[in-house]
Amino acid sequence: MSEPAYLDHAATTPALPEVVEAVVAQLRRVGNASSLHTSGRAARRVVEESREDIAEALGCRPSEVVFTSGGTESDNMAIKGSYWARRQADPSRTRLVVSGLEHHAVLDPVLHLVKHDGAEVTWVEPDGDGVVRPEAVRSAIEQDPGSVALVSVMWANNEVGTVQPVAAIAEVVREYGVPFHTDAVQALGQVRLPLGEVGADLVTLTGHKVGGPLGVGVLVAGRDQRPVPLTHGGGQERQIRSGTLDVPGIAGLAVAVRHAVDHQAEHAARLARLRDRLITSALAADPTMAVSGWWQPGDVTHRLAGNAHLRVPGCDGDSLLYLLDAAGVQCSTGSACQAGVPQPSHVLLAMGLSEDEARGSLRLTLGHSSTEADVDSFLAALPPAVERARRARHATGRAG
Ligand SMILES: Cc1ncc(COP(=O)(O)O)c(C=O)c1O
Repeated sequence: MSEPAYLDHAATTPALPEVVEAVVAQLRRVGNASSLHTSGRAARRVVEESREDIAEALGCRPSEVVFTSGGTESDNMAIKGSYWARRQADPSRTRLVVSGLEHHAVLDPVLHLVKHDGAEVTWVEPDGDGVVRPEAVRSAIEQDPGSVALVSVMWANNEVGTVQPVAAIAEVVREYGVPFHTDAVQALGQVRLPLGEVGADLVTLTGHKVGGPLGVGVLVAGRDQRPVPLTHGGGQERQIRSGTLDVPGIAGLAVAVRHAVDHQAEHAARLARLRDRLITSALAADPTMAVSGWWQPGDVTHRLAGNAHLRVPGCDGDSLLYLLDAAGVQCSTGSACQAGVPQPSHVLLAMGLSEDEARGSLRLTLGHSSTEADVDSFLAALPPAVERARRARHATGRAG
């Protein structure tokens, strides 16, 4: 059987060859970056040079780069750590203003704080195109500006690929003197990330979505941000994130971030061509399908170049996923399972779609190894998979 068509790059994308080399080179060496001897100092040098490279690529200061184990930890640190820090400084700051589009790595810490730690949350819903409007963020803050601990709106959505107007949102938030966090995990490498121009206080990034290693990421934390640590120990990383530094992972991350930023424009243009052919051909083959989120052919600034999200009426997304997988096409439904039961996507519901409309969702995401042949395989496998998934749904009496 030929290689499967991998259309799930938003979940994780293959490591770049130069990243593998950088990681392996460091794995062959010994040295804890906190040790004072020669090997320790050499490891420290790798960490600090990587920090400088990442800061230069992103347009922030090296001292703002805090290494973590990835997007989930960075989001938790930004949400919980900042909430605790703000509440300690001013007990009336207990409200979180958060978009309804966020990844679970933001949603779940928010819900945890609400359930267990006296937080309140004001959700800012996107419009029907999946865009969070700066005016909507303003009116959420305006409900009681003195109570806001933190505002969090993601840069680009992992399900429907909409890119948020983060610079305009950051400007609104700044007027109120409230810290602003943005999860830029999906944005890195596909849209420009001029951190110095945007002025977010806390930015989440992870390596494995841009060809870096799994399990390593960054929280870019402005120098005035002192989130309360989630872990305690050796006091590494400005005492925000204790734990022995993952030198091979950090070296690989630096290579991946540099590559993502340097090649962003051409990468986005290439992916958008593949994305647009995938969407237009799928819709032409079955006009009952719809694209979720704002999309215009050729656009790479309002929707991620590598994201196609289709809704197929009369199907369960999970059935489609398994049928496509059996036909050699790997993709995602975009939404999570809870206790093995597929849940309608909170993102699609927040965009105003019904549970039934949200059910037949497919997320197809492209990356650096994607080819025209991958798109061809998907387009060939889709019609028979849809037909079988519709029959299966009909047979279980859930047609609609
Ligand atoms: C938007 C977003 N935030 C956070 C994460 C979590 O990142 P990690 O897998 O590095 O923990 C993901 C991963 O899917 C994501 O898409």
